[in-house]
Amino acid sequence: MKVSFKELGLVNTREMFAKAVKGGYAIPAFNFNNMEQLQAIIQAAAETKSPVILQVSKGARNYANQTLLRYMAQGAVEYAKELGWKKPQIVLHLDHGDSYELCKSCVDFGFSSVMIDASSLPYEENVKLTRKVVNYAHKYDVTVEAELGVLAGVEDEVSSAVSHYTKPEEVIDFVKKTKCDSLAISIGTSHGAYKFTPEQCTRDPQTGRLVPPPLAFDVLKAIEKKLPGFPIVLHGSSSVPQEYVDMCNQYGGQLPNAVGIPEEQLRKAAKSAVCKINIDSDSRLAMTAAVRKHLAENPSHFDPRQYLKPAREEMKKMYIHKIVNVLGSNGKAR
Ligand code: G3H
Ligand code: 13P
Ligand code: ZN
Repeated sequence: MKVSFKELGLVNTREMFAKAVKGGYAIPAFNFNNMEQLQAIIQAAAETKSPVILQVSKGARNYANQTLLRYMAQGAVEYAKELGWKKPQIVLHLDHGDSYELCKSCVDFGFSSVMIDASSLPYEENVKLTRKVVNYAHKYDVTVEAELGVLAGVEDEVSSAVSHYTKPEEVIDFVKKTKCDSLAISIGTSHGAYKFTPEQCTRDPQTGRLVPPPLAFDVLKAIEKKLPGFPIVLHGSSSVPQEYVDMCNQYGGQLPNAVGIPEEQLRKAAKSAVCKINIDSDSRLAMTAAVRKHLAENPSHFDPRQYLKPAREEMKKMYIHKIVNVLGSNGKAR
């Protein structure tokens, strides 16, 4: 049975992006797969009165079940109200939709926003598929994120001769033809906890820590110039906090040389036309670090609540930090 996101108390991204671009801050887009992540996200957003995007990947849908996820999002709106957030601004968004059928199914299932990621296709095919998704989604007032440019993989040379960065000269034509509502771009971020190889980094002489190369802010600037005020999205924006990496490694994990995007670069991006910042890996790290620590210190515990409670608290702390100290979206949804 079809359901509109409006019946679920969700909102699309249109108004929140317009405000964020104007206000020089970014909306957090946090991925979730389970109840503890969702509780932590909603608690953090409600406490800080920050608009928030709940992101569901195809993998998350397969892992958790699409029906369950959709009711979890609906429940999240009610939970937010229960926490004293009078007018929660919560988006349910499909992350990296890879087909028209998947996007359509999410629109029909109550998502308020979908991403069609056809960035690996040739340009004209990307345009065609994105336009098809937009045509369907807009009938139901669902907003659409598209992508141009390919996010670098860990093996890609940062200064490779073949650039995977978004080509600023393509963005006007792409947005005009597809009528997408926001555009994910590639300026040097990538998914996961290993965003750069040690060879691509330098080392901080004092701490010995890896220092990643800077993002291509010149490309972002050129895109902003072509599309003034148009909402831009940054994927792969986890900063891979070294305290979580250390905690994982200290308690039996093996995450050598995990490295992310330094927060000062994300802060700079949030002040620009970048109005949606995607964070998944940092939540995974916070959760795993806390679970590992708890179980190592309490080997007799076997009630999942005993180790998931500190994990949830650690994630909430991390989400609040991102909202308040990095993205600046606190207080924007009162
Ligand atoms: O963009 C990727 C997100 O981090 C989702 O990851 O496909 O493993 O759920 P996933
Ligand atoms: P991270 O792996 O950096 O958290 O990126 C998440 C993302 O872009 C989800 O679409
Ligand atoms: Zn992504």
